[in-house]
Amino acid sequence: MSRWIEGRVVSNRRWTNQLYSLQIDAPIEPFKAGQFTRLGLDIDGKRVGRPYSFINAPHERYVEIYSITVLGGPLSGRLFELQAGDTIWIVPKGAGFFTLSEVPEADHLWMLSTGTALGPFLAILKTDEPWQRFKKIVLAHAVRTVEELTYQDMIGALCQAHPDQLTFIPFVSREDTDFAIKGRIPRAIEDGRLEEKTSMPLTPYTSQVMLCGNPAMLTDTTKVLEARGFKKNKRKQKGHITTENYW
Ligand SMILES: Cc1cc2nc3c(=O)[nH]c(=O)nc-3n(C[C@H](O)[C@H](O)[C@H](O)COP(=O)(O)OP(=O)(O)OC[C@H]3O[C@@H](n4cnc5c(N)ncnc54)[C@H](O)[C@@H]3O)c2cc1C
Ligand SMILES: NC(=O)c1ccc[n+]([C@@H]2O[C@H](COP(=O)([O-])OP(=O)(O)OC[C@H]3O[C@@H](n4cnc5c(N)ncnc54)[C@H](OP(=O)(O)O)[C@@H]3O)[C@@H](O)[C@H]2O)c1
Repeated sequence: MSRWIEGRVVSNRRWTNQLYSLQIDAPIEPFKAGQFTRLGLDIDGKRVGRPYSFINAPHERYVEIYSITVLGGPLSGRLFELQAGDTIWIVPKGAGFFTLSEVPEADHLWMLSTGTALGPFLAILKTDEPWQRFKKIVLAHAVRTVEELTYQDMIGALCQAHPDQLTFIPFVSREDTDFAIKGRIPRAIEDGRLEEKTSMPLTPYTSQVMLCGNPAMLTDTTKVLEARGFKKNKRKQKGHITTENYW
């Protein structure tokens, strides 16, 4: 059973008319970067709660979550409406195994995300561990339109701080750009465009892959990686693909 505590919204940054980031002040317990909490609101007399990844690193002052309003979804649209000073329920304990402590050693770490699932990767990249463990890190963010390529300031700062280690690869599926890979992540692995853009080989001998977001992306990407010899990373049997499904 979830134990809820009350938090207070510090800010609600609306990136688009659907995408938003909430900062929340709440006395939560220590957690690991990559984990998620649960947020809740009382709607028509009933508590509605959903999991949300921490975007903030464990050492940062406020809880931050990044979300999108989903048509017909009971909670996400209501979270979008929150303003500074509003109260919100939050579970103080972090949960989940989408953390670097679950990822075996490798030279290269590939962090592949769709939509709001960029979030847990930002939390991880704001800690020291990835930079100490991996020679090269690729962060890919796959979205429908250019305006959904959010957190560019934070990503830019990470690239500046780690110019020889971090490569950011945007994917845009429904608009033409002169900078992003067009289309979807699994296709760009299959046809070699992701390796070409990063100038890095994507092989199980050199790489660990973390996948987060749309479950169909996880399934399709796992399939193309398995065709290259990658194996799922399980707690009892180490492999190369560590995943977090968002629905
Ligand atoms: C471990 C975990 C971590 C999560 N972390 C986040 C997070 O950090 N940010 C976030 O926005 N969501 C996250 N989610 C999803 C989140 O819990 C909610 O499902 C989402 O906010 C929609 O809530 P809802 O009540 O409005 O609709 P729901 O009834 O929960 O969902 C309705 C439908 O919306 C779609 N959907 C749900 N989440 C998303 C999404 N993020 N992007 C696109 N389509 C979606 C799916 O088709 C789903 O069936 C996470 C889910 C899990 C399981
Ligand atoms: N109705 C609308 O026009 C509209 C617009 C925006 C958002 N929304 C709402 O927002 C939600 C979607 O949010 P989102 O755009 O952040 O998430 P999303 O649907 O998961 O899309 C994010 C990215 O993932 C890609 N993707 C989808 N399936 C994939 C697969 N099998 N393999 C690899 N990549 C895949 C998408 O490519 P593709 O573009 O090729 O699918 C897109 O580039 C919807 O549930 C909806 O409620 C609706």
